[in-house]
Amino acid sequence: METTELTIKPERVSQKPPEGMKSDLSKWGNNLVTKFHVLMRISQIYDSKNVALNQFVQESLETINTLIKKEGILSLKIIRDDFFLNGQRLRYSVEGFTSFKYLSTQWKKRLIGEVIFKSPVDEEKLKDFIYALINLEEGREENAALFEEQLANHHITSIEVNPLEVVEGEEEAFTLRKEDQRETAKKVFFETIGTIKEVITQIKGKQYADVRKLKRLAQKAVHLVIEDESILLGMTTIKNYDEYTFNHSVNVSIYSLAMGKRLGFSKKTLTELGITGLLHDIGKSKVPREVLNKPASLDEEEWGMMKKHPLMGVEIVLNLKQLGEINPRMVVGIFDHHLKSDLSGYPKLFRKKKVSLFGRIIQIADSYDAMTTPRIYKKTPYTPEQALALLLRERTVHFDPLLLKIFIGLVGIFPIGSLVLLNTRELGIVYKPNHDPKWLDRPTVILVARSEKGDAKKEVVDLIETDGAGRYQRSIVKTLDPDKYHIDIAKYFL
Ligand SMILES: [Fe+2]
Ligand SMILES: [Fe+2]
Repeated sequence: METTELTIKPERVSQKPPEGMKSDLSKWGNNLVTKFHVLMRISQIYDSKNVALNQFVQESLETINTLIKKEGILSLKIIRDDFFLNGQRLRYSVEGFTSFKYLSTQWKKRLIGEVIFKSPVDEEKLKDFIYALINLEEGREENAALFEEQLANHHITSIEVNPLEVVEGEEEAFTLRKEDQRETAKKVFFETIGTIKEVITQIKGKQYADVRKLKRLAQKAVHLVIEDESILLGMTTIKNYDEYTFNHSVNVSIYSLAMGKRLGFSKKTLTELGITGLLHDIGKSKVPREVLNKPASLDEEEWGMMKKHPLMGVEIVLNLKQLGEINPRMVVGIFDHHLKSDLSGYPKLFRKKKVSLFGRIIQIADSYDAMTTPRIYKKTPYTPEQALALLLRERTVHFDPLLLKIFIGLVGIFPIGSLVLLNTRELGIVYKPNHDPKWLDRPTVILVARSEKGDAKKEVVDLIETDGAGRYQRSIVKTLDPDKYHIDIAKYFL
């Protein structure tokens, strides 16, 4: 069937709400959070006369005042770990995560939960506001009132401040309650990306990298995967083009963990596998940037450098200060991840050997993630379905057929994140495969629909559901290319 036959046209799916503003609000919100983050940081270092500060205040004023003029008011509020701009929850990007985290930690420490700007502000007011905020003593319950008092002293009445609303049980953010799992997964996911980034920077700067933090994060990921693997698997649809290396390592780790779980690995082995996944490409930190990011194909010399990354990875890992956290299985896993079953990959070996289990698992996860992520030399990635077909074509020669079978069972015939057309003419995004292998063609999907306001609605339906007469309510007709429909799949998983 051709897409032109559909009643749902691509334009309709990507249609913006009439006023255009609501969908932009998230972008503005991200911008605003970054501005507040930088403002707080600079003002902690410099006094109010500083040139850098003043310049940034000007830039921030533009964002803040444009928003107030458009919306009439600006309210930025924290509820649990989320920011709401004028009542709309802000979704953050990978780049925005640091700012979100910084701001929410700083506000929470000072027990500030909401800031409302009722009318446009000028340079002086904004500076008074920022300095009053950073000077609040941490942990004081009356901070919001003190803050307002300070503002009043400066004759500022257009800014209102409210205390943090403590949601019950918030203290134990890491105890895994069902409804919090998604939040935890998000936190672990972004924190791990940040930590990998740190580790790579440390290695490049010839400093000792701290892998204990990675281990703690891997343990949290193991916990999450054991509870419900589909949440973390959903995170792998966040394909960040600019942060490829970090994002990729985390994705490989998630896929590997989910496979390890199916193989019945113990928590300890899973943690080791998780860390190996995170570190599998660590050797690339020694490959020149120009080679890694080259848009054209590599020449022989460049390929030579690239092919050294598994071995260099081994060298790096063996030089870690906390070598105690690393065991031979992990080292071999890193060495093996490009060997391929017939040893046609790299490094070239002098003697035949069997590819280790960790190596074989990571190889599948690695290939799948690389194929489904846009790269500088291949802007349109393979769809999940195409990637699986390619892996299957190369089974026995390159991959372990049994592990590949497990992997396909894991991501489903309709892998998580696939865009599918249903017989009801609705579009859906595969959210979770059916746990019964008999019903792999009946996953749970999120219907792609928009509310009257134009926000993406998240209605989750299980394709196993039948009507009164025993007929399936919905079935998948085929998969579609999300790019053609301008659908940002990752948004549905955040
Ligand atoms: Fe690699
Ligand atoms: Fe890789």
